[in-house]
Amino acid sequence: MLMVCLGNICRSPLAEGILRHRAAARGLNWLVDSAGTGNWHVNEPPHELSTKVAAMHGIDISKQRARQFRADDFIKFDRIWVMDSSNYKDVKQMAGNYWVEEKIDLLLNEIQPGKNNSVPDPWYGTEKGYHDVFAMIDDACKQIIKKYQNEKQS
Ligand code: 4NP
Repeated sequence: MLMVCLGNICRSPLAEGILRHRAAARGLNWLVDSAGTGNWHVNEPPHELSTKVAAMHGIDISKQRARQFRADDFIKFDRIWVMDSSNYKDVKQMAGNYWVEEKIDLLLNEIQPGKNNSVPDPWYGTEKGYHDVFAMIDDACKQIIKKYQNEKQS
């Protein structure tokens, strides 16, 4: 299970931390990771507000480090979720021949099927934006657990 956003420091590290935490709580042995389409923040920890909001929910994402998406992530992972339609377009372009349409979707389509809604980028906003984003991602992750809990996933 791979979560992808632009910088891999605000949204997808939250998605990674939340899904890993909730999967582990159910005893699900899933491979969960995140990546960014951009490379500006490679090796950096998550944004301090993402880390703070996750900690308020008992989830520690502070040890995660940013990395860039790579085409062969389509081989390593069974499912890939992107936060917005621009991530989708960028991943498609970066994946080239590795692209597998059936493996990838917008994260919010898990809770609002077919709507193609985006998880907004909280990067330029205030702490409230990070709380809002946490709630949306958490709802989607709960749905992912329900949907895939009977399958072993990478
Ligand atoms: P993210 O947010 O994609 O949720 O990690 C961003 C973080 C950094 C930048 C853009 C978006 N940036 O342009 O540096």
